Amino acid sequence: MSEERSSEISGFYRLSIEERRRKLKEWASLTDAELAAYDFPPGVGAGILDRMIENVVGCFPLPLGIATNFRINAKDYLVPMAIEEPSVVAAASNAAKLARAGGGFAAQSSTPVMIGQVQLLDVPDPAAARIRILAERDSLLAAANAKDPMLVKFGGGAREVEVRIVPSPRGTMVIVHLLVDARDAGGMNAVNTMCEALAPTLARLSGGRALLRIISNLAVFRLARASATFPREKLADGERTGAEVVEAILDAYTFALVDPFRCATHNKGIMNGISAVVVATGNDFRAVESGAHTFAAFHAEDGGVVKPLTTYEKDAQGNLVGSIELPMPVGLIGGATAVHPTARANVKLLGVRSASELAQVIAAVGLAQNFAALRALATEGIQRGHMELHARNIAVTAGAKPEEVDALVQRLVDEHAIRIDRARELLEELRRGTGP
Ligand code: MEV
Repeated sequence: MSEERSSEISGFYRLSIEERRRKLKEWASLTDAELAAYDFPPGVGAGILDRMIENVVGCFPLPLGIATNFRINAKDYLVPMAIEEPSVVAAASNAAKLARAGGGFAAQSSTPVMIGQVQLLDVPDPAAARIRILAERDSLLAAANAKDPMLVKFGGGAREVEVRIVPSPRGTMVIVHLLVDARDAGGMNAVNTMCEALAPTLARLSGGRALLRIISNLAVFRLARASATFPREKLADGERTGAEVVEAILDAYTFALVDPFRCATHNKGIMNGISAVVVATGNDFRAVESGAHTFAAFHAEDGGVVKPLTTYEKDAQGNLVGSIELPMPVGLIGGATAVHPTARANVKLLGVRSASELAQVIAAVGLAQNFAALRALATEGIQRGHMELHARNIAVTAGAKPEEVDALVQRLVDEHAIRIDRARELLEELRRGTGP
């Protein structure tokens, strides 16, 4: 009979990384080689990561690739992308090259205003409470700003108070929104601290009680936008003319516009690019993902059906013009961006001078990623590119030497048989010089 193991390990957090690892080794009979897969890379080290989250035992390295060719607002960027999925970095680079041929991306962003929410319950007179709270706007903003003099010093701070009356199955709620210019921070700590500070006053003004005090990830006032022209003549592909490819991409885009099942995948492709840069810069990719998907549904004019985050049109010359707009709550100060050595190096590599500039770059990458996906889907299909990368992995696994990989990949792809057994046979044939 196997012995019962308990995951209730008291004081795990007090152990050193080495001690925690020893526990894991026992728990799962990990070999030394398996344990070594948790090792910290020399350029990062254990110290900082150990302080970032709890119960640290190692780190999980993702590949970091660099997307090339990006030109945004007449400035060139090399864009770091941390992602496990093949093809994403290559696709972004290719799309950026085509956008570059059309003059590059134009990008902007709104002021970096985040929303904090205070939920007020059991308010006897919600409409009158709303007026009482709005009447105190100036003192509420002053009290909020007193909580973060540094943010105010750098030109940010609480800017506005809004009050919404929201019916619910548990009675009417009065929801106060505190709008805070977060400048170069993500804003979570500043906004949450301010909301917590205002909650007792808001409860008193409303005659009810305050419950939640928390930032909203639907950052509709912190938007990033980008657009690009993809020249028609550059889009020709095999036997298809550029004009035909433009039409095919417009059909592909329109599919996402009218069908939520397609739209989810369309927007996922956008987030392939966006999340990869958000992760590489140490930002909160869940906040960006959540905001993007809720924004896509929130802005649907027809009652909550999700909409694509991008738009495609033809200009007067028949070129394809793509654009994107979405919330982009990313920061450069505070949070992991400022402490994680790889994130810091990536920010330096990007050469962005503000969180707004970073948001613009990320929006441009999202547009590039989406354009690349639509172009592939609307022409040769997505699998060919994917299969080549898959074949490359299979070729290496089959034992191909670096100088043999290209020829073997070509044969595997031509045969549509990307399997390890066939790769071994073809490699033998290649080496004997008996292949086709
Ligand atoms: C795959 O990760 C992303 C795509 O499915 C996006 C799309 O279909 O637009 C290729």
